[in-house]
Amino acid sequence: MHPNRRPFLAGNWKMNLTVSRSVALAAELQRVLERLRAVDIGLFPTALALHAVATRLAGSRLLVGAQNVHGKGFGAFTGENSVDMLREAGATWCLVGHSERRHLFGETIADTGRKVLDLAAAGIRTILCVGETLQEREAGKTLAILEAQLRGGLAGHAPASPADLVIAYEPVWAIGTGHTASTAQVDEVHTWIRGWLRERFGAAAGDAIRIQYGGSVKPSNAPELLAVPDVDGALVGGAALDAESFVAIVKAAVPGN
Ligand code: PGA
Repeated sequence: MHPNRRPFLAGNWKMNLTVSRSVALAAELQRVLERLRAVDIGLFPTALALHAVATRLAGSRLLVGAQNVHGKGFGAFTGENSVDMLREAGATWCLVGHSERRHLFGETIADTGRKVLDLAAAGIRTILCVGETLQEREAGKTLAILEAQLRGGLAGHAPASPADLVIAYEPVWAIGTGHTASTAQVDEVHTWIRGWLRERFGAAAGDAIRIQYGGSVKPSNAPELLAVPDVDGALVGGAALDAESFVAIVKAAVPGN
């Protein structure tokens, strides 16, 4: 982590927890985490629980976001949610391009770029997830894949403030597998993403955009991952479903807690 960037720890609850369980977990996290001032904390429940969680956390410092969005407007898109619906439900952030969206649901790079622009137009901030598969890594294509995902995902995007955009580097082979990338692998990729962001947005903005690591983050590995200079937080899946684990990961980002 870098002293000039405020760490951002996000819990991606994926398709887990009913509405009542989501509200209960949010309330428990708020009770313990509200007093931590030097960190941004975001909770990403299923779309169905978004409104209830945001209502429960109204006035809190904890941020609430959506896991996916279809786009702008209204219309005949059965099963989908628009930016206006997410915003009114209380989402101030949205994940875009999570590997499960890309690989299980066929979301393309062009889709991610469109979503980022639609979200920005509605005033919702983006966490753009990027990451390579094991096959791509073994073929030496990691940086080429990340370049394409970043270039296409951010095409035409000019965030109002660098604090409104977060990149999450999530190697697909590390998500939900228990295999975390080594700190050397994370360092290499995050340093490269930082350089790319500086070129794309200019040095000052590129230095201010936060880069999260995601993929089997847990209390035991969070301290060493968060100690990597260009790791500015984490996107946590499995370990975010347990209050004690998520609290321990957040605390690892805030020295002295
Ligand atoms: P995981 O998921 O922590 O369970 O690996 C991370 C993510 O998919 O965001």
